[in-house]
Amino acid sequence: MKHASSDAAMTGGLKISDSEFQKAADLVKSLAGIHLTDGKRELVSARLAKRLRALNLTTLSQYLDVVREDKTQDELVMMLDALTTNLTSFWRESDHFDYLVEKLLPKYEAVGQSEIRGWSAGCSTGEEPYGLAMLILGNLRNPRGTSLRILATDLSTRVLDTAKRGKYGEERIKNIPPDLLKKFMAAENTPTGTLYSVSQEIRSAVTFGRLNLMELWPMSGPFDFIFCRNVMIYCDKPTQRTLIERFGKLLKSGGTLFVGHSESLAGVQHNFKYVRPTIYEKP
Ligand SMILES: C[S@@+](CC[C@H](N)C(=O)[O-])C[C@H]1O[C@@H](n2cnc3c(N)ncnc32)[C@H](O)[C@@H]1O
Repeated sequence: MKHASSDAAMTGGLKISDSEFQKAADLVKSLAGIHLTDGKRELVSARLAKRLRALNLTTLSQYLDVVREDKTQDELVMMLDALTTNLTSFWRESDHFDYLVEKLLPKYEAVGQSEIRGWSAGCSTGEEPYGLAMLILGNLRNPRGTSLRILATDLSTRVLDTAKRGKYGEERIKNIPPDLLKKFMAAENTPTGTLYSVSQEIRSAVTFGRLNLMELWPMSGPFDFIFCRNVMIYCDKPTQRTLIERFGKLLKSGGTLFVGHSESLAGVQHNFKYVRPTIYEKP
């Protein structure tokens, strides 16, 4: 689609021609599965202007070459961080956590499962996987007799560094149920306020790793559940469909897929059984 006003948009000091915008859209689609619609042109211009200045570049084309040639993908991460959000919180979309405690844990316990495996795909700064580990270890009847392993992955090395530190300020921990907070997080006073550190027991249950969901997945399942919430929001329907099919292959039969509240699978062809909004089961 052609931009309404002119051949080039002038926002935040960065001129972007139609063909440059298309090149940017093609690149983030091929490398990260992210679908940049024409309406995002101003956002791209405004958000990337600063990065171009930092690298002493003058055109978006030059910047895209840098992104493409950077084998570490660090610049791709910078670019995506500028265009997307890493927003997350403990107990976000808490009905998913309720479902896990009320339906899934009793199911695992009923068959005497000694191991529970989950994957937080697009874990951002760690609140989702740590929260899952606290919830599960805090609610199992026999936590010592169960091995819990949660894989937590993200494309962005920046958010993963924060996740691995496992320390959160007072503002961030307020949704954690008080009994779990007391059990699994230690408060320490620092010059900038109280910091809460995730306990060793929870850290040992969570393994962080960098993974671009658009690339090969090195791990083998099967998982009991997969959380992929507020990640596919940026993907077009065919990409969502491919991801969902790949999640299906790594889930156990009867395993559960959780997607974000604004990401129902309506309009996406899949073989999952609908359980309730944004919760699906592999048949
Ligand atoms: C909005 S956060 C969601 C965090 C958490 N799942 C939640 O719902 O609170 C989206 C995360 O997805 C990650 N992400 C985006 N595209 C990705 C991709 N292609 N592969 C892996 N992670 C990706 C981003 O880096 C970001 O940390």
